[in-house]
Amino acid sequence: MISGTGTNMTALLKDMANPNHPAEPVLVLSDCPEAKGLKVAKKMGVKSSCVDYKSLRNNREVFEETLISKLKQENVDLICLAGFKRILSEKFISHYENKILNIHPSILPLFKGLNTHQRAINSGMALHGATVHMVSKDLDSGRILGQTIIPILRNDDASSLKLRLLPAEHKLYKLVLRRFISRQIDPILVNK
Ligand code: GRF
Repeated sequence: MISGTGTNMTALLKDMANPNHPAEPVLVLSDCPEAKGLKVAKKMGVKSSCVDYKSLRNNREVFEETLISKLKQENVDLICLAGFKRILSEKFISHYENKILNIHPSILPLFKGLNTHQRAINSGMALHGATVHMVSKDLDSGRILGQTIIPILRNDDASSLKLRLLPAEHKLYKLVLRRFISRQIDPILVNK
């Protein structure tokens, strides 16, 4: 499930195109019709669909019911959030208990929530990174499955840091997805 550019989604789809991959992508879902990732998914021959949150007048209940019905139609048994910007309700999460992964751009449990790159710079840290974790009812707090780290350089701003982190995120998410499917859930550190 995506909301934007979908570079993590693209990395996962490319990896799943590999015949030895244990998963098959059945649906890319977005909450936003303008999400660039929808076009990419289409180009890659993966079914995509949008449930426009805004046109549902921000009605989260209807939004999530529609998501669930689309996911059920495709018999989805694992959801990868990849830049999906809506916070999912406890009800949705318990419907897919232990079946939702997310990638968050920080070394969790540091910097839950938004603006992680700027907050890492402001904190004076020498390191930044990303975490793939299971989604639980508390925001960015589920079991950590893998992490990657990169240095924060003297001239970094939020956008340069974000850009440098993305390739490491892709590598991390691909590996964690493969491991998760083979039931390896001990946290792994993935280097760039
Ligand atoms: C990534 O930084 C990811 O960690 C965060 O949202 C961003 C999505 O980027 N959850 P993309 O759409 O995968 O390029």
